[in-house]
Amino acid sequence: MQKIGFIFDLDGVIVDTAKYHYRAWKKLANELGFEFTKEQNEMFKGVSRKRCLEILLEIGNVTAYQEQFDAWMVDKNVDYLAYIENMDESEVLPDVPRVLNFLKDNHIPIALGSASKNARPILEKVKLLPFFDSIVDGNNVTKAKPDPEVFLIAAENLGVPSNKCVVFEDAVAGIQAANAAHMISIGIGDQKVLSESKYNFNDFTEIDTDFLSKLLRS
Ligand code: BG6
Ligand code: MG
Repeated sequence: MQKIGFIFDLDGVIVDTAKYHYRAWKKLANELGFEFTKEQNEMFKGVSRKRCLEILLEIGNVTAYQEQFDAWMVDKNVDYLAYIENMDESEVLPDVPRVLNFLKDNHIPIALGSASKNARPILEKVKLLPFFDSIVDGNNVTKAKPDPEVFLIAAENLGVPSNKCVVFEDAVAGIQAANAAHMISIGIGDQKVLSESKYNFNDFTEIDTDFLSKLLRS
């Protein structure tokens, strides 16, 4: 049997950090004199920090020189880091540890494939770092999702062919990246939004051992 690998996105899959990203972007938007809604924040899922700021400035109709743009990127991240400062295991999404433990018990290699540059400290805070054989995040890629780069690097690090990798993702761009890498894409969240995924679940509580065992045999 050929080896299979599992790749997890972080934000929205392992932890619900979208609310902290939202608070930090909203604070910046308000300081710049415009509103930023929760609905607009949906567009930021899976999207790199730089691209998020570009979209935010488009929403507010604000133009910025490079120096100012870079300073706002730093401001947003300083605020975000303050919001996640006290995160702990209680913020891990339901049944994520159960699935990680199942994979570990079956000696399945596990990687993180995230756009975030804050991935490692978050995994440390929520005490899940030891589960991951490889961490590929915003610091390791040159192309953002929907480009498959982040997942292809993860597969290579795990020593598993791309078509033998399973990806859990909550963002449309992430599902597209997994599909582009010819991986088995599993959408976590609203099926209408993640319609391009091969399988879809609202959350990990819906993923049972039978389904995981089936994936291991695929
Ligand atoms: C993704 C989030 O995982 O990471 C995006 O879904 C976020 O909302 C992106 O913008 C980059 O994160 P960070 O932590 O590097 O600003
Ligand atoms: Mg995500």
